Amino acid sequence: RELDVVVVGSLNVDLTAGVHRHPRQGETVRATALTTGPGGKGANQAVAAARLGARTALIGRVGADAHGQDLLAALGADGVETARTLRDESAATGTALINVAETGENSIVVAAGANAHVSPDDLAAARPLIDSARVVSVVLEVPVDAVCAAARAARDAGARLALNLSPVVDLPAEVLAAADPLIVNEHEAREVLQRNGVQLPGEEVGYAEALRQVGARSVVVTLGPRGAAVTEPGHAEHVPGAPADAVDTTGAGDAFAATVAWRVGQGDALAEAARWATRVAARSVQQPGAQPSYPKLADVVS
Ligand code: RIB
Ligand code: NA
Repeated sequence: RELDVVVVGSLNVDLTAGVHRHPRQGETVRATALTTGPGGKGANQAVAAARLGARTALIGRVGADAHGQDLLAALGADGVETARTLRDESAATGTALINVAETGENSIVVAAGANAHVSPDDLAAARPLIDSARVVSVVLEVPVDAVCAAARAARDAGARLALNLSPVVDLPAEVLAAADPLIVNEHEAREVLQRNGVQLPGEEVGYAEALRQVGARSVVVTLGPRGAAVTEPGHAEHVPGAPADAVDTTGAGDAFAATVAWRVGQGDALAEAARWATRVAARSVQQPGAQPSYPKLADVVS
């Protein structure tokens, strides 16, 4: 297969304000810095994987505006295949308004723009890419019918489906069941468990096993600095986090998911893939921004 990872997901321009602390409702605070950079959970995944050496393509949409052009250029610079990253004449490029506090914690508001137009037809047109993929990695921020089409296409192509259910939406049971792995953070895990009426385990490391009851074949629950809880048939493990002094956690989860997708496609067991991913995510939180902070392979092998 010619492609290691085909990502289906969003592209956004990230407008990031540094703040001493997050504003309360009705409050105005001063930014310490303002930056514009490439982002979006789908594009972030694609760039993270490509930087590690994975042959990667991105299926998605930008607007036919300057921001869209910049995002495509950023993908191209990292060697991501963008033949099926469409320019949408009728919508603006997706935009994320991000506040990053001194603690490194962020809050994000996303205006979907062109991402809301990703459609099952886009997936049909991208079928040759999916047919040549080892892993199809899907992230939300694009419509559910496109996500379902991606899952079906992956199945028909015999590609493995990695599903980063971020942000959480209700998906048909057969899509969740096809996820191998389902990747969520602890907050998302809690939400999926609650929506599906599964009792919350007392400890976060139990979330992965509990999520198997929702149907996924294998599960990774990311736990921030505490690493990840991983479960696949016959094996469950808590993979510890890699040490990091966080300045900006934006996009760390996307880098994590992309690394897992790439490594399982190379034949790694899920826990081994998660060990790679904790190292990549730990690097990314130590630099500002999402894509600009992603390491190269040489930075994480030593
Ligand atoms: O996961 C981080 C990403 O979420 C940002 O790059 C922003 O664009 C939003 O999609
Ligand atoms: Na970062």
